[in-house]
Amino acid sequence: MADSYADQLRDGLDGQPYLLAALALFAELVRGAGGGPVADVGCGPGHVTAHLRDSGLDAFGIDLSPAMIEAARREHPGLRFDVGSMTALPLADASVAGLIAFWSLVHVPDHALPGVLGQFRRALRPGGPLLLGFHTGDSSRLKTAGYGGHAMKVYVYRRQPAGVAAALRDAGFAVEAQLLLGPDGSLPGAVLFARRQP
Ligand SMILES: C[S@@+](CC[C@H](N)C(=O)[O-])C[C@H]1O[C@@H](n2cnc3c(N)ncnc32)[C@H](O)[C@@H]1O
Repeated sequence: MADSYADQLRDGLDGQPYLLAALALFAELVRGAGGGPVADVGCGPGHVTAHLRDSGLDAFGIDLSPAMIEAARREHPGLRFDVGSMTALPLADASVAGLIAFWSLVHVPDHALPGVLGQFRRALRPGGPLLLGFHTGDSSRLKTAGYGGHAMKVYVYRRQPAGVAAALRDAGFAVEAQLLLGPDGSLPGAVLFARRQP
């Protein structure tokens, strides 16, 4: 599945002007906060990590799935990719200047969300930008097949931006902006910009 996903996502940012703009703004915010290492958490096959690197950021990826990390290393030789979980981030306190989680929080159940956002806060420097992308909605579902018909057992949680923003505030972030993606389409999403409070 990881290899099929890597095939599908290789050019996944092409034709995505809003995502590209969000990533460009995130890069500017990281530079404006002094620059430094940026963690792409739940990086999958690493196309966003590589894009951030091409934007001039010192980006590296972390993913729970060893197969995804293997695919990321193969797709982007020379970039750093580590196996790890966002529930126990293998990062020292205040060690990253920015953190991005693009459509990876969608696999985190509600009861685990505060702990994960706490991990993001712990790893980020005070004032460090956080960028979250996720599916919006009110339902969750068990995905049993995908990415070329492969069998899988993955829960996907959709959330409303206001709920995620509230969880971010509770975890010690200031929410600075939100972008709604395809709000009238069949797979709406959102990108939230937040910043670690001191
Ligand atoms: C839908 S993919 C998104 C991949 C990539 N960020 C993107 O934008 O295409 C979700 C990724 O989150 C990873 N993931 C799920 N739970 C995770 C966890 N607890 N810690 C780190 N990564 C996780 C999965 O292995 C998968 O690669």
